[in-house]
Amino acid sequence: MLLDALTKGMRKTIIAGNWKMNKTPSEATALLEEIKPLVADAKCEVVACVPYVDLGIAIEATRDTNIKIGAQNCHWEESGAYTGEISAAMLKELGVEYVILGHSERRQYFGETDETVNKRTKAALAAGLKPIVCVGEQLWERECNITNEVIARQLKLDLWDVTPEEMANIVIAYEPVWAIGTGKTATADQAEEVCNFIRMCLKTLYGLEIASGVTIQYGGSMNDQNAAELLGKTNVDGGLIGGASLVAEKFAAIVAATKPAEY
Ligand code: 13P
Repeated sequence: MLLDALTKGMRKTIIAGNWKMNKTPSEATALLEEIKPLVADAKCEVVACVPYVDLGIAIEATRDTNIKIGAQNCHWEESGAYTGEISAAMLKELGVEYVILGHSERRQYFGETDETVNKRTKAALAAGLKPIVCVGEQLWERECNITNEVIARQLKLDLWDVTPEEMANIVIAYEPVWAIGTGKTATADQAEEVCNFIRMCLKTLYGLEIASGVTIQYGGSMNDQNAAELLGKTNVDGGLIGGASLVAEKFAAIVAATKPAEY
């Protein structure tokens, strides 16, 4: 237990906003201008994952600040005839640092599979981006008591062929599908249970030392009211925030709620 708490203190806490398909470029600039002063003293890494068309303006708006910019997807090929797609190298050259991959909305609405998540993850790593790889069970899978099987399978497939060295640049986000945009948050204990299980899977795949260093975020209706309790859990190292990341004060309150585990 003490060891768990100590290793939490050594991990990077990351609060990332997933803006999804919200904010035009001018709206994005305005929101970032609001967020900037509110998170200037953050004790954690602060990331805004914005729509593709907002990336350039977001990178400009956050230059010389502590806010990092992320994208919400990337293609796995370096270039070619893939109309409408964006490569990892394009994002990297722009100054993007993080990229969300395998979000449940992409799995649900856009045919994302573990195989394509894996290809995207490899491509993102090769380009020097930091993937935030999303895993999570659907409600009926939880009700059928197969949450662990679902998560273990996703991790194994999504991280296939990712090397131990590359794991230093990977963030895992646990996002139970039933908690996304529903106002139905996993309890802090539920979040901790699965985040702890994720770390056990990583230990099986990569060993204790690497597993202890991976940042595992929780996502799903995290807000300014429930963040402190969720983030206080030993294996919850941050949050991937949807709705609440679009309101500067709420996002800043979540950032302010990050604190080391008690021990
Ligand atoms: P909400 O915070 O709106 O539930 O969204 C969570 C999410 O999907 C973050 O990626």
